[in-house]
Amino acid sequence: MQPKEPASVSAALASLIRWAIDGHGGWLPFDRFMAMALYAPGLGYYARGDRQFGSLPSSGSDFITAPELSPLFGRALARQVEQALAGCGADEVWEFGAGSGALALQLLRALGDRVRKYHIVDLSGTLRARQRDTLAGFADKLAWHDELPERLHGVIVGNEVLDAMPVQLLHFDGERWLERGVSAAGEAFVWADRATELRPPHEGPFPPGTVTEVHPQAEAFIATLADRLEHGAAFFIDYGFPVAEYYHPQRSGGTLMCHRGHLADTDPLTDVGAKDITAHVDFTGIALAAQDAGLDVLGYTSQARFLMNCGMLEMLQGADVKTIANAQKLLNEHEMGELFKVIGFARGGDVAFTTAPLGFAAGDRTHML
Ligand SMILES: C[S@@+](CC[C@H](N)C(=O)[O-])C[C@H]1O[C@@H](n2cnc3c(N)ncnc32)[C@H](O)[C@@H]1O
Repeated sequence: MQPKEPASVSAALASLIRWAIDGHGGWLPFDRFMAMALYAPGLGYYARGDRQFGSLPSSGSDFITAPELSPLFGRALARQVEQALAGCGADEVWEFGAGSGALALQLLRALGDRVRKYHIVDLSGTLRARQRDTLAGFADKLAWHDELPERLHGVIVGNEVLDAMPVQLLHFDGERWLERGVSAAGEAFVWADRATELRPPHEGPFPPGTVTEVHPQAEAFIATLADRLEHGAAFFIDYGFPVAEYYHPQRSGGTLMCHRGHLADTDPLTDVGAKDITAHVDFTGIALAAQDAGLDVLGYTSQARFLMNCGMLEMLQGADVKTIANAQKLLNEHEMGELFKVIGFARGGDVAFTTAPLGFAAGDRTHML
């Protein structure tokens, strides 16, 4: 196992966060805390050089994602991307949050000459070196960006990027809503609530003691993308639910989760910077943000449905046992098949494929958003 988290890095990150808490009157909104824990330059979880993605803890990894699990994920997604590229007359792909570069490799291999340029936008500069290694064979097609360009023409993809965007926390004490943030108590970080005008985007009912999330950053990200997408389509894959399911009384503990060494916990205030922090995606909020910015929803369905619509079962014919077993994890209802969803958008007017997007051909659940 690789050494994780030198003490000096966590100590420096903790000092930086304490400094931010002091500068903010002794209380930091959770989204600010999460942004620093994950992305503080050189110190945050995604800003260090460790291996976060991989199949086993012995590799020093913390969690596995679909493209790390099976190359068939990218091969199946490539069929939808290819249809969308043809539909909008583009030859450029934009990937957000490219991680190790595994999905980029699968898409570039499957799409061949259909892609002239593959753009990667990732908040983490340190992952760029890893992506360069993974994608060495495609160097002439690759471009990395720190920021979005003013205008985009092409197909956008993002796997597990929306869940990595900082969320605000809300606490319902039975009478009123409070915003849950973070204070310092000596060396430790502790929860602290403040009065707020913020509300969940759903009427409830909410049991007393509910703690849940709202996602202004992910929604603003989608709105900006939509604004800049002149021609093209976008596909995001992530775990989450429509709004009514997200804010269901049975989910009164919220969806905030940390991952380290392939174990999950619910305490983001300890081992800060040494573990991933995520929240599920409110796909209704994402769809509304895109629609408000002028995009059409192409479809919304489970990952299993989407991958099967894109031909994954045919790709498994004649495959060896390991390939089949890994692909099954992407499809099985009790593994990634149902919890993970795919949502697709296109700029209205790019109608050449909006009528029959391959991945949503059967089992589209847009009506549930
Ligand atoms: C959970 S990882 C997923 C990595 C990869 N897509 C995969 O499936 O293995 C989340 C990634 O999203 C990136 N990220 C988070 N917010 C982002 C943003 N606003 N723009 C671009 N990348 C972002 C993180 O740096 C990280 O690489």
